[in-house]
Amino acid sequence: MGCSNTKQFDYDDSNLDNYYVRVPVSPLVDKKSFMRQLGDLTNHRKVSEGEDRGIQRKWIRSVSIMDTRCLLTTREKFQLMKSWKGITRNLGHTGLNMFVRMFEIHEDIRTYFNITGKKAFVDIRQNDKFMDHVILVMHTLDEAITGLGEVDYVQEMLRGVGRSHKQLQNFHFLIFERIEEPFIFAVKETLGDRFSANMDNIYRKTIKFIVKELAMGFNEPSLCRSSGDR
Ligand code: HEM
Repeated sequence: MGCSNTKQFDYDDSNLDNYYVRVPVSPLVDKKSFMRQLGDLTNHRKVSEGEDRGIQRKWIRSVSIMDTRCLLTTREKFQLMKSWKGITRNLGHTGLNMFVRMFEIHEDIRTYFNITGKKAFVDIRQNDKFMDHVILVMHTLDEAITGLGEVDYVQEMLRGVGRSHKQLQNFHFLIFERIEEPFIFAVKETLGDRFSANMDNIYRKTIKFIVKELAMGFNEPSLCRSSGDR
């Protein structure tokens, strides 16, 4: 069928800035004549077959579809994945930075990892529970960001992680929000000059989406089977 509601995209992995959206074409409209009409509209002259492709690519390149689940466009997702590669090379360092920053702003978080008093950075690193959690968090963030091509899967995965925090005493879903600012702080520090205003906006939208999904998972009612269910 030529007509479909789903828009797919291809991209050339060697240059993530270049991606082409396959626009669904109605079965009643021949693609060539459609592109010729488009050329006529934009150029007011007849275009050759060779030019057709150029116009098609230029036009299609400007199309970026918003994913309403995570509020990122296809273009932003690719920019994010490309930028995130810089973080994956320094995952542990970025994670440590993020949590140390969070401890600075929200001292009470330390109690979840049995860190008492104003321990120095070196001491914090000796805490296995804390260090294991840094790794868990960074791997979760990595899976979420690199998996944004499959948002349904990412949502399910993050909600599961959010649910797992229910077992923690005195934990509240709003505590997840506290990761937002330290996340931006740590990403910015790791990326340095590569952290532009545009990337700031993309990372902020991304961490808000992640926090929202964690909180949703935390707030989902538990699926307890009572004897009456059978
Ligand atoms: C923001 C404040 C957070 C606090 C205070 C917190 C605290 C904790 C604690 C105390 C545990 C149990 C660790 C253990 O028993 O060794 C845990 C588990 C875990 N946390 Fe967090 N967490 C936070 C945020 C996050 C975030 C943002 C993520 C992911 C993006 C995350 C991912 C995980 C995972 C994957 C586990 C393991 C769950 C399991 O055992 O199934 N946490 N968290």
